[in-house]
Amino acid sequence: MRRTVKIILLVLLVVFIAIQFIRPARNVSNQVLPNDISKLVRVPDSVQVFLRHACYDCHSNNTNYPWYVNIQPMGWLMANHIREGKSVLNFSEFGNYSTRKQLSKLTGIANSIKDNAMPLSSYKWMHKNARIGKDEKAIIINWVEQSKDSLSAKN
Ligand code: HEC
Repeated sequence: MRRTVKIILLVLLVVFIAIQFIRPARNVSNQVLPNDISKLVRVPDSVQVFLRHACYDCHSNNTNYPWYVNIQPMGWLMANHIREGKSVLNFSEFGNYSTRKQLSKLTGIANSIKDNAMPLSSYKWMHKNARIGKDEKAIIINWVEQSKDSLSAKN
């Protein structure tokens, strides 16, 4: 019995070491793209800072990677969140969306914040500065309303 346990632990250790070599590509572009949301609507500093801390890691082309992504499977989980997050909402490519889609994504952003659905709770747990206070909520929701008005006025 003890021998079997030892063999199982050894196999797990070998698997753990082996997966460390499989590293997902990084999501880093380091430039403000022409279709970034900030080129489309006014993004005040307070909003920008908040979005960068709380949302951009999964919803932009620039992730600020925490140290633990160097340990697999944490890096894989993060890569998965980024792939999924970017596919539904990418602040770096917001200008590529149709006006209708931009408006509905903005509504989605306000709703996700009102409902505490975003950022993902597993992420909030690891990133203290991604937690949203009452004041921040109000700032973002207000910004969403202003951005929707300015987009509707332009089109
Ligand atoms: C750790 C990664 C992560 C972070 C950080 C994050 N999101 Fe998300 N977000 C996702 C994933 C994955 C999805 C798609 C699956 C889902 O809806 O749960 C998503 C979906 C969404 C959607 C739904 C889009 C649609 O049209 O279906 C909105 C809106 C959204 N996120 C807004 C935000 C906002 C605003 C923030 C910052 C306050 C944020 N997210 C932070 C990963 C993240």
